[in-house]
Amino acid sequence: MSSSSSSSSSSSGSGFSHEKVETSNFLMVVLILLVVAVGGLVEIVPLFFQRSTTEAVAGMNPPTPLQVLGRDVYVREGCYNCHSQMIRPFRAETLRYGHYSVAGEFVYDHPFQWGSKRTGPDLHRVGAKYSDEWHRIHLVNPRDLVPESNMPAYPWLEKAMVDGAAAAEHMRALRRVGVPFTDEQIAKAPAEVKGKTEMDAVVAYLQSLGLAVK
Ligand code: HEC
Repeated sequence: MSSSSSSSSSSSGSGFSHEKVETSNFLMVVLILLVVAVGGLVEIVPLFFQRSTTEAVAGMNPPTPLQVLGRDVYVREGCYNCHSQMIRPFRAETLRYGHYSVAGEFVYDHPFQWGSKRTGPDLHRVGAKYSDEWHRIHLVNPRDLVPESNMPAYPWLEKAMVDGAAAAEHMRALRRVGVPFTDEQIAKAPAEVKGKTEMDAVVAYLQSLGLAVK
């Protein structure tokens, strides 16, 4: 259309004027989606090929069978509803929790337990902060150690035995999404976790968190 009345409107002769975009809802929506999609891809796609986001940080090993099962307990009990595992790169966070979380620490984490709710403290670097015994007492009844705590008690974890077959199955599934377990490690998993309780498992998992970066 020929732009006419308004004095300074730019492209007049050519068929594509800005006015066209501004006055067509459909065209506007399509173009916005296009810009967002391209902008998003430009930001996201390189991360799939960047070493710092795809490779484990030095010193990080795949989880042991017991830690794999402990992580299952963590997910099943919904610990992520109150605890994040993501230390942000802000001074207030690093003073309290330690070094901020880096992408290479999460390459074996499927799915991530980052979380966004912090009724309790972040747990990403809780590994080695307390003794195993501290965790046991705390999980059976948090009030025994932290009188003002509103964290629920998980006394049944001490009585429930872990399922060795589940450990092997879960490791096979994790291997499919890139965790480098060997056939031997998977075959040995059921024997390795035999006689362990869910409490042993979740404590082993907690004690493994965040040790690779200091
Ligand atoms: C309703 C919210 C809530 C849930 C669910 C919850 N917690 Fe907590 N957790 C807290 C609060 C609040 C604290 C701080 C007080 C305390 O230490 O008990 C805490 C503290 C902790 C600490 C000590 C952290 C530190 O650095 O001192 C650990 C470890 C922990 N929780 C593990 C777990 C695990 C494992 C689960 C799941 C089995 C879980 N929590 C579920 C609220 C919760």
